[in-house]
Amino acid sequence: MLPKRRRMRVGSPGGATASSAPPSTRFPGIAIYLVERRMGRSRRAFLTRLARSKGFCVLDACSSEVTHIVMEQTSAEEAVCWQERRAVAAPLGCTPAALLDVSWFTESLEAGQPVPVECRHRLEVAEPRQGPPSPAWMPAYACQRPTPLIHHNISLTEALETLAEAAGFEGSEGRCLTFHRAASVLRALPRPVIALSQLRGLPHFGEHSSRVVQELLEHGVCEEVERVRRSERYQTMKLFTQIFGVGVRTADRWYQEGLRTLDDLREQPQRLTQQQKVGLQHHRDLSSPVLRPDVEALRQLVEAAVEQALPGATVTLTGGFRRGKLQGHDVDFLITHPEEGQEAGLLPRAMRCLQDQVRASPLSFPRVTAGWCCCHLVSGSPVPCGSPGHTCLFPQGLVLYDQYQQSHYGDPAWQSHTMDAFERSFCIFRLPQPPGASVREAPRPCPAWKAVRVDLVVAPVSQFPFALLGWTGSKLFQRELRRFSRKEKGLWLNSHGLFDPEQKTFFQVASEEDIFRHLGLEYLPPEQRNA
Ligand code: CTP
Ligand code: MN
Ligand code: MN
Repeated sequence: MLPKRRRMRVGSPGGATASSAPPSTRFPGIAIYLVERRMGRSRRAFLTRLARSKGFCVLDACSSEVTHIVMEQTSAEEAVCWQERRAVAAPLGCTPAALLDVSWFTESLEAGQPVPVECRHRLEVAEPRQGPPSPAWMPAYACQRPTPLIHHNISLTEALETLAEAAGFEGSEGRCLTFHRAASVLRALPRPVIALSQLRGLPHFGEHSSRVVQELLEHGVCEEVERVRRSERYQTMKLFTQIFGVGVRTADRWYQEGLRTLDDLREQPQRLTQQQKVGLQHHRDLSSPVLRPDVEALRQLVEAAVEQALPGATVTLTGGFRRGKLQGHDVDFLITHPEEGQEAGLLPRAMRCLQDQVRASPLSFPRVTAGWCCCHLVSGSPVPCGSPGHTCLFPQGLVLYDQYQQSHYGDPAWQSHTMDAFERSFCIFRLPQPPGASVREAPRPCPAWKAVRVDLVVAPVSQFPFALLGWTGSKLFQRELRRFSRKEKGLWLNSHGLFDPEQKTFFQVASEEDIFRHLGLEYLPPEQRNA
């Protein structure tokens, strides 16, 4: 046994480097890390000192500089598993260190210099970059693992997500979820799947999903997926459910009744709700993706209107754009006010401001163009708001459609609802487009604008972190997070709070990080919630 002080120095990260001489560079390009597991702390400390005395660079932490990872009494499978776990955390594209048995290290010590790495030293299973990643590190719940937006298995996830979508169209919730979960596991893998063996043991990979992947790997296409994509049923359901205000049930009814195209629907206006009519009318705009510059323009509009309606209120971007997406089907904003209760009933006032700012005077337009009428965004010539003789190009205002719902929080009748009870507006904005932006094949006469879907949600500040977490998504991530809370922790999570049903208490939190902490989960930033 080593004396305690010495053990501390080598065993604790940073301890040794802080107190001892900087690692030697006698053998440039070689930085060794000794894995303590199996080797034991004292033997690791001993070997570290010995190697350093011979001029080897041995690092205390397994940083990106490490070139040789040395393990003792470790099988190739275990070593790869350990490596996989690191690869998830390591930045993409960084060269992985060699995984070596301690024999390479002891031979090198004997030789007084690093000996060439031979096959027998290697702890990697054949073709390490392609071999099966051991699945032991892949946790079952999506909220337990980082899922970046850009991943390595796009063609596979697209296929599985098509099947998920198709199952959803048939009302098969269970199958829909199963395919989504399998796709989500692939999104979280640190490298492309190129052999079926890589799926072995991965969670949520049943027979069906594995077969789809196998076909794609072997033939480049999956017959079932192609058949679904070609089918009239899938194409029509996709077309109909993309219309604002149309869910699976409505789309299915229309399909059963023989409707197939948007023109079929337009011919039967009596079937359509007001929301669907607007959705159909602006279908072309609404089915083209919202882009980052649109998000910025909208943020300014909404911030100005909210500030005007309730000074001190804040606007936070949520949804896919907060997760780093570059495109989306809508833009989601969460609004709150630092003083609890002040926020109630804010939306109708803010919407009126959005509607009126083009007419009334002297209402301020977004901060960047404070005081200018909104039509300068398209006309290019700034005119002060409400100038005498000036006719705004947007006399109808900026809100094309607004489906408002006041808060139902605390309403017993709402409790069975799966949706949250926040005050909200699901709306469509008329977003002025800068000159030269061509958004249509046949452009309308100036002024140029495009219809954009916007979701506005208002939360009291005490519930803000839960609302932010819930509205940031992704949908699957939130679903998994709630399932994890319930099944693994016995706690109920939704966009309003985290509840302990045994203690009958709500957790007080100040941030999303607090929520992850209460659930015993490592914090995942929004960009890693793209499950
Ligand atoms: N959400 C919710 N209740 C709703 C609608 C949405 O809680 N009635 C939450 C969901 O968790 C969802 C998030 O808000 O993940 C954003 O929803 P949505 O805008 O539909 O999806 P995005 O992830 O933003 O993707 P997209 O780019 O398609 O908008
Ligand atoms: Mn969204
Ligand atoms: Mn939305």
